[in-house]
Amino acid sequence: MRRGSILQLAAIAVLAALIASVVALSINWLPVAASEEAKRIHFVYWFATVICIGVFSVVAAVLTYCVLKFRAAPDDDSDGPPIHGHTKLEIVWTAIPAVLVTAISIVSAVVLAQNSKAGSDPLVVKVTAVQFAWKFTYPDGKSYGFLTLPKGRHVKLDITSNDVIHSFWSPELSQKQDAVPGQHNTIVVTPTRTGTFPVICTELCGLGHALMRSHVTILTADAFSRWLKSGGQTKGPPGLAVFQQFGCGGCHTFKPAAATGTVGPDLDKLKEEAAKANRGPLDKFIEESIVTPQAYIAPGFQDVMPHTFGSQIPPDKLKQLVQYLSGNAQ
Ligand code: CUA
Repeated sequence: MRRGSILQLAAIAVLAALIASVVALSINWLPVAASEEAKRIHFVYWFATVICIGVFSVVAAVLTYCVLKFRAAPDDDSDGPPIHGHTKLEIVWTAIPAVLVTAISIVSAVVLAQNSKAGSDPLVVKVTAVQFAWKFTYPDGKSYGFLTLPKGRHVKLDITSNDVIHSFWSPELSQKQDAVPGQHNTIVVTPTRTGTFPVICTELCGLGHALMRSHVTILTADAFSRWLKSGGQTKGPPGLAVFQQFGCGGCHTFKPAAATGTVGPDLDKLKEEAAKANRGPLDKFIEESIVTPQAYIAPGFQDVMPHTFGSQIPPDKLKQLVQYLSGNAQ
């Protein structure tokens, strides 16, 4: 092969690698990593991506070069020259992918092994899936409809189901695990950043599958132990405790509860919204919005609020929540 051809091939390969790298880096493909485990999984993604860019640039260079250099003349109908394989070339293009795939599998195996290490004293949270809600039970026996975790501590999620097969997934934790009736599957989570992130059922489990969502709130170690001691409740009106217990703040902004969620309508504008909706007295409108949120969807929002609060929140607590919201509404 002439030196000029090799230089041309190399130039095309560099160009292809540059284009692929720009595509890989300029788009936010992955959610933020909120745990040690997620960081390791993201490393595997990038490790495989770099290999893919390398392979892509070599293949693209050879293809482009051949198309440009060995193009047949418009009226050339003759057969190409007979070629009888090339043993060395075949060994090379078999060996290189074998090495790369082996490298990916070794890195993945190391990450999987590290990600299953829960240390000697993990916080064990039982995760129970039912059609169509999540229940998270702490060592003190208390259960919540949302997950709260301490930053910096190993947490073992012990996942099962009461009816059909569901699957636990929080994109920011980067891990998925099936929830299977009669079986206990575990994942280890070591949170690294505070915040509230979605928990999603990622196994088609029935009509309400798309609505089977909760969220995970990661608190600092201090805030978490306070939360745990208070039984997930804080001082203040009883309605505030209900608001926090059922995770309303994960999706809604509400200043009296220091909630800043933006998935659902801003509850600080509740009176204004109620007037716009024009669906009867404020208390009735709030109750309807909690129990049958699909009855009226605020403009600009979608039907994503779980339809299950009517059965999850006991009637007395629902009353407290409605009073708390209407009493503090602006
Ligand atoms: Cu539970 Cu899908």
